[in-house]
Amino acid sequence: MTAAHPPNLADPATYARHDMHEVWRRLRAEQPVHWHPEPGFWALTRHADIARVLMDNDRFTSQKGNVLATMLQGADGGAGRMLAVTDGPRHTELRRLLLKAFSPRALERVADGVRDSTDRLIALALERGECDFARDVASIIPLTTICDLLQVPEADREHVLRLTKSALASDYSTPEARADQVARVEILLYFTDLVRRRRAAPGDDVISLMAGATVQGAALSNDDIVLNCYSLIMGGDETSRLSMIGAVAALIDHPAQWRALKDGQVSIGDAVEEVLRWTTPTMHFGRTVTQDVTLRDAVLRRGDLVTLWLTSANRDEAVFDAPDVFDLGRSPNKHLTLGYGPHFCLGAHLGRVEIAAMLHALRAYVGALDRAGAERHLYSNFLSGMSSLPVALKAEP
Ligand code: HEM
Repeated sequence: MTAAHPPNLADPATYARHDMHEVWRRLRAEQPVHWHPEPGFWALTRHADIARVLMDNDRFTSQKGNVLATMLQGADGGAGRMLAVTDGPRHTELRRLLLKAFSPRALERVADGVRDSTDRLIALALERGECDFARDVASIIPLTTICDLLQVPEADREHVLRLTKSALASDYSTPEARADQVARVEILLYFTDLVRRRRAAPGDDVISLMAGATVQGAALSNDDIVLNCYSLIMGGDETSRLSMIGAVAALIDHPAQWRALKDGQVSIGDAVEEVLRWTTPTMHFGRTVTQDVTLRDAVLRRGDLVTLWLTSANRDEAVFDAPDVFDLGRSPNKHLTLGYGPHFCLGAHLGRVEIAAMLHALRAYVGALDRAGAERHLYSNFLSGMSSLPVALKAEP
């Protein structure tokens, strides 16, 4: 690999085979605005360039998809309807509406639930002494949290959790192992029914909020609401889960940082930010160019696809001191893990609450933490992290 010819960034196998941090380092140094041939798209790797593009929705739109896979297909089915792939005034209005449900105050009750269930799951893991941290702890918290947010009735919980788990199972350990399409359709049908029930009897949940609102002068259709529920599940499940699993692996691999956390030498707030930077679960997001624009010495043409490698920005030596060091006390920490600008993660507070609850429970109740078997990594050009992490835990003496 030379910087002029990095491995195929569209191929999930690349991420399994290469030391990607070395690939990003060379691209940042030698070709920060790189034209990736076949399939053709720009790859941006410096923090400053990525932040600039993320800020500029006029010249770089999300409406043709915001991840490489959909952008390469030429369109995103949710364009103009799902928040993440909508731009302009409709995005502003829809976002303002959803933000009402995502402010720290509105989320107080959900956050309490996150802390309780995290403590409970860690206590169960300690009782057993060994667990797959991915399956037994980290996969349960985000989905339960989203069910709380959408106020999925207790009686339906098991059904919904089972469907979402099989539809979104992040176990792409082989190229053939694809998420279950049938379960996806069933989720959409389930939420279509729930939207109908909420229209008939509104509550104080996100679905009722959308059902009672107008955007650009018109009520949101059932389909629009279902798509946005689905995108909350997609946006909020795997991301937080991968960060939590990555946090545990990093703490095992860096015993001095584990001690710093245990001894209270670092604040949970700073530690959460470093976990986010270190794990960067969504490696890239993308945009389509709406008018010719010059970036460094390159001219990006209208219609070109641009990929923004957050995972590279988060190790940019121009922004971070010792970027390859896992330092829970790092401050400032201007990572781009949650995005930047108009599409900045809607669930940022919730994601942070989940990781904070996990770190807090580990600090308070776990005395010793170790690997208990081989981990399994995802097979993806978009998500990075582990689908399995067997660990052994001992309680505080
Ligand atoms: C947007 C990452 C948690 C829902 C984003 C974006 C990133 C991101 C990078 C920007 C995408 C872009 O610019 O195209 C993460 C990470 C998380 C996390 C790393 C956890 C560690 C959550 C949670 C939810 C959520 C818990 C909801 C329950 C969303 C939504 C958007 C978004 C709806 C679209 C916002 C918009 O377009 O205005 N997320 N996210 N995310 N995220 Fe998250």
